[in-house]
Amino acid sequence: MTIKKIGILTGGGDAPGLNGVIYGTMLKAYDSNIECVGIEKGWKGFMESLTIPLNIAEQDDLHTKGGTLLYTSRTNPFKATLGIENEREKEEKEKEIAQTMHQKFEELGIDALIAIGGDDTLGVAATLFKHTNAKVVGCPKTIDNDIKGTDYTFGFWSGTQLASNILDNLTTTARSHQRVFIVEIFGRDTGFLTLYSGLSAGADIILIPEKAFDFNKDIVNVLKERVNAGYKYHIIACAEGAYPSKNSLENQLTTISQETLDNLPKDPFGNPKLNYLNISELLVEELRSRMDLKEEFRKNDTELEIRSVVLGHTMRAGTPNAFDRILGLRFGLAAVNLVLNGNFGEMVSLRGKEIKHLPFSEGVKKSYVDEDKDLMELRELLVKIRYLSKK
Ligand code: F6P
Repeated sequence: MTIKKIGILTGGGDAPGLNGVIYGTMLKAYDSNIECVGIEKGWKGFMESLTIPLNIAEQDDLHTKGGTLLYTSRTNPFKATLGIENEREKEEKEKEIAQTMHQKFEELGIDALIAIGGDDTLGVAATLFKHTNAKVVGCPKTIDNDIKGTDYTFGFWSGTQLASNILDNLTTTARSHQRVFIVEIFGRDTGFLTLYSGLSAGADIILIPEKAFDFNKDIVNVLKERVNAGYKYHIIACAEGAYPSKNSLENQLTTISQETLDNLPKDPFGNPKLNYLNISELLVEELRSRMDLKEEFRKNDTELEIRSVVLGHTMRAGTPNAFDRILGLRFGLAAVNLVLNGNFGEMVSLRGKEIKHLPFSEGVKKSYVDEDKDLMELRELLVKIRYLSKK
């Protein structure tokens, strides 16, 4: 079947570089005589037929702009399957939903669909394909950089640079007031953003979801060591999804328990909404209540003053950097090539310097920081060698 019209949708949290993918898609589609139609608000727009025409003549240099022209949402068409425990029943329900979704191709008048999103959005595309062989391909997106099928997602380096700049900048005010700053950085399940920006800016403690922290050992004691080594200010880079260890939850902390974590509100994909937790503010409270730490600071002529800064959505805001603009364009081009070559059920990917592709079933999985052993070692060395070497 000749492809005459491609639908494009963007789902999940926005990321700098999304417009690059859309523009890359439009460039290649125009050159291949294919019409592009924008589907607004991710899977919501797909289910509700919310479309806009995409005319390339009106979108010069779209790849230089942040956000997504097509709007986005965290809509999960398979939400009804989340609570089903029986595997067979779940499959049946998935199949039924996937078939309804498949009919939408005709309603929307599209021959193929490019879904741009993270593991949630691409997970929907994968399930749709699994049950119907729909003509869908994917582009991996997330500033968290936690998709297994690609070395990097666009948006990650823009977000990392923003966080690194802020960690750098905070040192001047931290130094002036001799304060501890806890900087909360996006990263629900993985610590790539926190680890890369923390290493880049030389943060004094780096807390990531992959390694539950022991409050006494990894925070209180490190601050004591540092203050005794002569340090007067301290920057803690803390991922929003960094959790205390079981021992800390049960024996060291008073403002947070396992129940707090289990009862967080969830998004339509079942992910906890971490802005309801605000881990950095909880840590500020916990540290303020530690008399032993206050005493250690006083002994070293410093008052224990702590502030939290939540970077939150500032990390996704603004224009993409050069790397993310170009990766977005390359992914867009590659996605159209997948469609032209009939590689449905696949996603594009960056491996080293090359653009590759692989089946959803292999690529749509989470990747974690602790697989990168050298980064984990650097994190440990950066924290401890500074105070140890001053002894
Ligand atoms: O898309 C992942 C992410 O960037 C996480 O790092 C963060 O927890 C989440 O999005 C925030 O989502 P929302 O914009 O829906 O609050």
